[in-house]
Amino acid sequence: MKLFLDTASLDEIREANRWGVLRGITSNPTLIAKEEKGFLPLVKEICSIVDGDVSIETASDDTETLIRQAHEIDQIADNAVVKIALTPNGLAAVRAVSDEGIKVNVTLCFSPAQAILAAEAGAYIVSPFLGRLDDVGTDGLRLLSDICEIYAIQGYDTQVLAASLRHPIHVVESARLGADIATMPFKVFEGLVKHPLTDAGFKRFINDWEGAKPYLGELPSSMQEE
Ligand code: E4P
Repeated sequence: MKLFLDTASLDEIREANRWGVLRGITSNPTLIAKEEKGFLPLVKEICSIVDGDVSIETASDDTETLIRQAHEIDQIADNAVVKIALTPNGLAAVRAVSDEGIKVNVTLCFSPAQAILAAEAGAYIVSPFLGRLDDVGTDGLRLLSDICEIYAIQGYDTQVLAASLRHPIHVVESARLGADIATMPFKVFEGLVKHPLTDAGFKRFINDWEGAKPYLGELPSSMQEE
């Protein structure tokens, strides 16, 4: 399962990228607005940092306008993916631009029926929003499980991207259920690596190492520096 960050923050993207496990970015109008920066320079910079798909969202529900926006977003960078909301007009645009070879992430998916429509329209990615379903008392992971099962039975190529993830368990369960991609805020990304036993164990190893130095004799030069 590929790990994506759901952010438009350059600092967060650079930090996660440094860890060597970041495979892509999802953004949306809310995340772009939060940065208070020029849209084109910001998304171009994001695309240049990340070696993987960067989803950039359209902002219309008119099919012709969506098609024009998709063409322009697709031209931003080789790794730009066009995000289109799962509405009837959106699906018509997905069909049109997917047929031209443009990669589309169909977003705001909240039901298996919508996910079938996204795949049938030729989507490159479908994004079920788990956390927002949990927020209204519906099981987001159950939706992901249903979509993964249906896509496997039908042999759809559309990648399933688990979105709106709120905590590391969402990420682990998404991997278990067979999601192709999980996108998450930086806080959740950090939560994947943190464990108090790792911190305590590491501290103890370093202390023991320092204490043993008088007896360890000659050390490789890089280990003398610590
Ligand atoms: C995905 O592409 C969306 O940008 C995102 O996951 C939405 O998450 P939220 O429900 O935390 O806003």
